Amino acid sequence: MFPLGLIGYPLSHSLSPWIHQSFFEKVDLSGTYKLYEIEPEIFSVKLSEIKEKVVGFNVTLPYKEKIISYIDKLDETATGSGAVNTVVKKGSDWIGYNTDGIGYIRSLLNDYPTLFNDKQLRVLLIGAGGAARGIFHALLLNGVKNIDITNRTLEHAEQLVEDFSSTTNIYSLDAISKHLEHYDLIIQTTSVGMAPKDQEAIICLDAIKKTAIVSDIVYRPLETNLLKEARKQGAHIHYGHTMLLHQAAYAFEIWTGKTVSLDTMAEELQIKLKGS
Ligand code: ATR
Repeated sequence: MFPLGLIGYPLSHSLSPWIHQSFFEKVDLSGTYKLYEIEPEIFSVKLSEIKEKVVGFNVTLPYKEKIISYIDKLDETATGSGAVNTVVKKGSDWIGYNTDGIGYIRSLLNDYPTLFNDKQLRVLLIGAGGAARGIFHALLLNGVKNIDITNRTLEHAEQLVEDFSSTTNIYSLDAISKHLEHYDLIIQTTSVGMAPKDQEAIICLDAIKKTAIVSDIVYRPLETNLLKEARKQGAHIHYGHTMLLHQAAYAFEIWTGKTVSLDTMAEELQIKLKGS
């Protein structure tokens, strides 16, 4: 029996209970996945109570960094990204992981299996927050070397690049349009374009390479304005909801040791997202 859950605040509209319940059924394990909404003022007391009830949990906003001081050990995925989204109890220790970066890469390779065979692949990361950090780290681990960043606040991008000691070009959101033709993969990691502000797109894609892949981690709406624009340009696209599924599947693996086959789940999740 695997009692699991999610901590965060607020927690409305979470699809994680549905995702993990489906995983339990797929691998024929019994378990539960509950939502634990914790108000910031009572974080410490509530977390202690939850730790008595579960063998593992996910962490979402605003606690992905705060949780670090409440657990015993960090996996490399968590130290690399500076944030924890998955915690598991091993013996008497609580261990923190971050499944976002690896989940992102798995979702990308599921759609484009040979992408990383191109050792010269040029990647543009849009954003320099927690999500960008996790994805940057995972790209480096996968041998991707040419990664540039564009971000609203240049200092945030500079800090990220310094933390990874990487040779990365950094551009402002205004300056990037002149360089877009160089990139094979463009990854949008900010919340820009998310409902209800779904008319927004963080950059204009007019000058992209026609063979580029444009990827957006936003999954509400399912197809963001940026992805619509990419499709109009004839580029390939990669949807955010597939990352949601793959990061969940990796967390499930960490908790239960079971690998789940995602087969029809991306389509089922699409239907759920369209209805939500
Ligand atoms: P997360 O952990 O979800 O990545 P975050 O750490 O708050 O969230 O990072 C948010 C990212 O979205 C940052 O790159 C942020 O840009 P700044 O570094 O300039 O803050 C970017 N972002 C958020 N709102 C934005 C907006 N309206 N326009 C441009 N970039 C925005």
